[in-house]
Amino acid sequence: MGRENSLDLHEARLSASFVMTEKLHKFHDECIMPHLQVGAPSGAPLMKNAIQLLTDDHKKIKSLLEELANTSTRAVKKRAQLLDEVATMLKIHTTIEEEIFYPAFKQAGNKDDAKTYFEAMEEHRAAGELVLPDLMGTKPDSEQFSGRAKVLKELVVHHADEEEEGMFKRAKSIFDKAALDALGERMQARKAQMLGE
Ligand SMILES: [Fe+2]
Ligand SMILES: [Fe+2]
Repeated sequence: MGRENSLDLHEARLSASFVMTEKLHKFHDECIMPHLQVGAPSGAPLMKNAIQLLTDDHKKIKSLLEELANTSTRAVKKRAQLLDEVATMLKIHTTIEEEIFYPAFKQAGNKDDAKTYFEAMEEHRAAGELVLPDLMGTKPDSEQFSGRAKVLKELVVHHADEEEEGMFKRAKSIFDKAALDALGERMQARKAQMLGE
């Protein structure tokens, strides 16, 4: 084999290995990447920031309350089971807000934000210490239960909507991305701790 032929062969090999590497990259990008959670180590849950975490909770609680308010006086078992879920979720949600999110919001905000804070705290008290315990002490086969379940739903939906439209929008301008992520992480840890209790 002459020197020229040997160089040609070398070039052909290089170009074949280049094509192969390209194919491997393509396979990686198209077939492997979609199955991986980008930005999180494989298997770890994707962290939500504070607003995402609280808004997702709102969606779940609203849908449970909607379901509860639509039950009939005959659905005794269902009512008890749904009420139990609502009570647990409300307890966890209001606790992470009152222990972590609200104080951070009040501290970082201005006078108007402090007013929002106190109003939100009172709404928690109305739902968690008055309306919910009242409903829990009501016979699930009664019309009083139906009425009280609707009142709880309306109170919580109003409160959650107000938080999303007011406090959370404002929080996005008060806190930077890192602060919202850190608050989300702390609330997630507190949630996990309460669920384990
Ligand atoms: Fe709240
Ligand atoms: Fe909330």
